[in-house]
Amino acid sequence: MAPLVASLNTNGLWYLARGSGLVLLGLLSLNLVLGIAIQGGWHPPGWPRFVVQGLHRNLALLAVILLVIHVVTIELDPFVPVGWWAVLVPFVSPYRPLWLGLGTLSLDLLLAVVATSLLRGRLRPSWWRLTHWLGYLSWPLAVVHSLGTGTDTRWTLVFVYEMACVGLVVAAVLFRLGRAVSTAPGWRAGLILATAAAPVAVLAWAASGPLQSGWAIRAGTPVTAVASTGATGSGTGGSSAAPGSPFVARFTGTMVESGGGTLATLTISGSVPLGSLQVVLTGQPSSGGELSNASGTASYRPAGTAITYQGPIVNLQRSLVGMSLQAPGGPVVPAQLVLNPSSTATRVVGELSFGTSGSAASPSSGDDG
Ligand code: HEM
Repeated sequence: MAPLVASLNTNGLWYLARGSGLVLLGLLSLNLVLGIAIQGGWHPPGWPRFVVQGLHRNLALLAVILLVIHVVTIELDPFVPVGWWAVLVPFVSPYRPLWLGLGTLSLDLLLAVVATSLLRGRLRPSWWRLTHWLGYLSWPLAVVHSLGTGTDTRWTLVFVYEMACVGLVVAAVLFRLGRAVSTAPGWRAGLILATAAAPVAVLAWAASGPLQSGWAIRAGTPVTAVASTGATGSGTGGSSAAPGSPFVARFTGTMVESGGGTLATLTISGSVPLGSLQVVLTGQPSSGGELSNASGTASYRPAGTAITYQGPIVNLQRSLVGMSLQAPGGPVVPAQLVLNPSSTATRVVGELSFGTSGSAASPSSGDDG
């Protein structure tokens, strides 16, 4: 594990943390559907029952591996202050405590289901069945955690994917309830109604919460993770949920040099907790390894939006890149990236000021943890 972690820069960890969460949600949803099918005695034609059961068990183990990746990468990534206790103890994280705590509860329930399944032979069948039913509860908790904690919820593709997971499971439960003729009609009708109403309730909640501007702050993101110093204008120090608001935030990324001869290109790409930035500089390489007569462009994309601010580099000093950015049809926004002297090509660290004149003309070298 150590060489893998060492070879990933913090952006890699951040993408892996979010990506593994999304794959995990899909996997849990699929596996829940398989579990419902097995309980209902249904399996695809030509598939023996034991094959479906084996698939169900192996998908659950794969989900546990992904869950470990999700949690470990979240913990190792410096963007979000979560704390190791928060992995098993719900609601103790300083980062979005309620929504993250639901993920922790989901993990606890999932672990109980997996552990009792592995020990099934030694447990009373009623105990095993009871804990297995908890698997049903683990899934909605994971869904609400994903929508409430995820940075990418406002990204249409991710939201549609998450709602497709909900739709898949709801359809399977409705199908199962439709065939549960031995259940009392009153109960059955109530359960069908509640199941059908669930996606509507999730959509209504998402529309009034995670999809709204200002959710990052309302969800309990510590201001230190949203913006590092007191920016003006938004009253909150800036937020990914309010694109265009001024902020000052910690930047991490990488630097790649290409070309050579008379013209070389330096590309700095990375992200702040609020979005991603790319700076492309072109100039003549000097003997000291610097670019002279450099000019370039920059683009900044706030997280969870389809907006891209673009514009020219207007100021270039040793560790300072001044930009003039503009979203289509919007006002010109000054931005400034101040690079930390401890930056290396594989790990560029600094501070991005967006919409302000910048808080740190001279970067602090101790801020790269
Ligand atoms: C079965 C349990 C879990 C599932 C299915 C799950 C799934 C997800 C998903 C789908 C996302 C959204 C990713 C995105 O929007 O890009 C997410 C985000 C997150 N999860 Fe989990 N998660 C689980 C458990 C946990 C646990 C136990 C922790 C505690 C360490 C945790 C911490 C986080 C954090 C901090 C984020 C926010 C990342 C961001 O801002 O995008 N998750 N999770």
